[in-house]
Amino acid sequence: MMGIKMHAVVVLLSIAAIASCRSIDGEGSGRPCAFGDRMVKDCEIAATMAEKCLMMVCRDGTIVEEMVGGPMDTGCCLGFGNVLYSNGHQTEHCMPMTCKDSVWVPEESIPQCCAQCRVYSYSHYTTFDGHHYDWQGICNYTMVEQSHSTEGHGAAVFVEMDRVGKCATTNYHTTFRNDHLTIVNITKVSALDENMTMDVNGEMMTVPDQGVRFLVSTTGNRTVMVYRRNKCIFLLGSSMLTLVHCPMSLDIMAPRMLSGSLSGLCGAFNYDDMDDFTTPVGEVQPLEMFPEDFPEMWRAEAQTMPMCMQDGVSTSICNGTKGNKCLADSDALEEYKTTCQNVLQQYISMRPELYFYVASCVNDLCLAGQGDLGTVTSMTPDPIFAATTPAGMVEVILRNYITVAGQHFQYLQRMPPLSDLSACTAPVNTTSIPVVDDSSASHDSAGHAN
Ligand SMILES: *[C@@H]1O[C@H](CO)[C@@H](O)[C@H](O)[C@H]1NC(C)=O
Ligand SMILES: *[C@@H]1O[C@H](CO)[C@@H](O)[C@H](O)[C@H]1NC(C)=O
Ligand SMILES: *[C@@H]1O[C@H](CO)[C@@H](O)[C@H](O)[C@H]1NC(C)=O
Ligand SMILES: *[C@@H]1O[C@H](CO)[C@@H](O)[C@H](O)[C@H]1NC(C)=O
Ligand SMILES: *[C@@H]1O[C@H](CO)[C@@H](O)[C@H](O)[C@H]1NC(C)=O
Ligand SMILES: *[C@@H]1O[C@H](CO)[C@@H](O)[C@H](O)[C@H]1NC(C)=O
Repeated sequence: MMGIKMHAVVVLLSIAAIASCRSIDGEGSGRPCAFGDRMVKDCEIAATMAEKCLMMVCRDGTIVEEMVGGPMDTGCCLGFGNVLYSNGHQTEHCMPMTCKDSVWVPEESIPQCCAQCRVYSYSHYTTFDGHHYDWQGICNYTMVEQSHSTEGHGAAVFVEMDRVGKCATTNYHTTFRNDHLTIVNITKVSALDENMTMDVNGEMMTVPDQGVRFLVSTTGNRTVMVYRRNKCIFLLGSSMLTLVHCPMSLDIMAPRMLSGSLSGLCGAFNYDDMDDFTTPVGEVQPLEMFPEDFPEMWRAEAQTMPMCMQDGVSTSICNGTKGNKCLADSDALEEYKTTCQNVLQQYISMRPELYFYVASCVNDLCLAGQGDLGTVTSMTPDPIFAATTPAGMVEVILRNYITVAGQHFQYLQRMPPLSDLSACTAPVNTTSIPVVDDSSASHDSAGHAN
């Protein structure tokens, strides 16, 4: 009799406590718990057993065992926010990860409505919504910033460019800010060495040869997944942004749920390129192929070069020459075009939308031909720019284009065809930043907590 009453009281108490936990993040208002020799905050996970899909969570002064998924499930994975995800769970990144028997593995298919922003080769830009432009600025710029988030705390990607010719730049120093507590710096040179080193909150870290590694915030929270494929580094943030850092391209991928909340050199992401040249103050400038004002407006706050800190000074290294920097005559252009078309034919024949790489390739060959690309030693020696003879330079450029267009081709092949863009612009129901389902988990586990 007594036992039954006690049990009922425990269950009632734990339901009341659970109601005050919005998620498993230690933000509850209940009493903390003692766990071993340390204290755990209300609603915080004290320990997890991923294989058994079991978590120990502090619920208003009591450590409670909670199952993820069904009562007999196994093979869960520890993920973002130190939360357990059930076996089979797939993240919503544009390069999704799936939990398979306690291991995170990259998924082959790319979700529909995913958008890709690129800076590639000698600073050609493609926005999320598909506008192409060239910009030879040499400072640190905001590629993407989550606009409606708290000042300086939201997800963002910044890129500092490096000079590789009189009139040519390439992305050199990338900063991936998942949130203000998780900041990753990658430079082109360190990404190229065998260990792929990067700087995570001021500490050097290498990208593992195999498997997936979690990066943690300064408070120890799991916030970014990292892995490598060939020469590329993949970063997947809990912000749902994906960054792919390769030798000749930098991609930022955004899923549909971020539509309407991103801006920067990658454009205002909303499946419509008309407003891609939106400035930080929300003014929409007309689209151009060779913009000056728009990219200048996106200079980042932190700069290393003095000229980049001065207002009103052009930070394009081709200052004075506006518009197209290629001065070749039509015969020369025709020749470049034939060369570029030949190497890219393999992709363009199947994906005509990739034809813009021919124009970029022509531009790079032209700049190399007139001595504007590849004649100045870059600040840091980089094997990619080592070719000095004009013929060597042409070869490097063509090889680069086969790589960057080939990557883009693979990306398109991995995405299911989309017949109607309105499927992407329709309102989204919820973001599923994972939270354990409190209501179903609590009842099974409350009883054997004590
Ligand atoms: C931990 O990170 C997740 C996202 O990965 C976030 O939702 C949560 O609020 C963070 N928790 C803490 C205590 O910082
Ligand atoms: C890579 O790491 C290994 C092991 O830590 C080290 O021996 C090697 O020198 C590193 N290579 C480079 C290029 O830093
Ligand atoms: C990233 O790099 C910049 C420039 O070198 C540096 O000022 C900053 O402290 C670095 N950030 C982190 C978190 O290491
Ligand atoms: C670029 O700007 C961002 C934001 O101000 C900063 O975090 C980053 O360290 C800067 N990068 C460099 C190389 O200065
Ligand atoms: C751009 O202007 C600066 C200062 O006005 C000058 O030193 C530099 O040589 C110019 N660059 C080019 C490519 O004309
Ligand atoms: C969105 O929510 C509504 C009602 O809440 C539901 O009917 C609809 O099926 C949901 N759409 C998707 C794509 O989940």
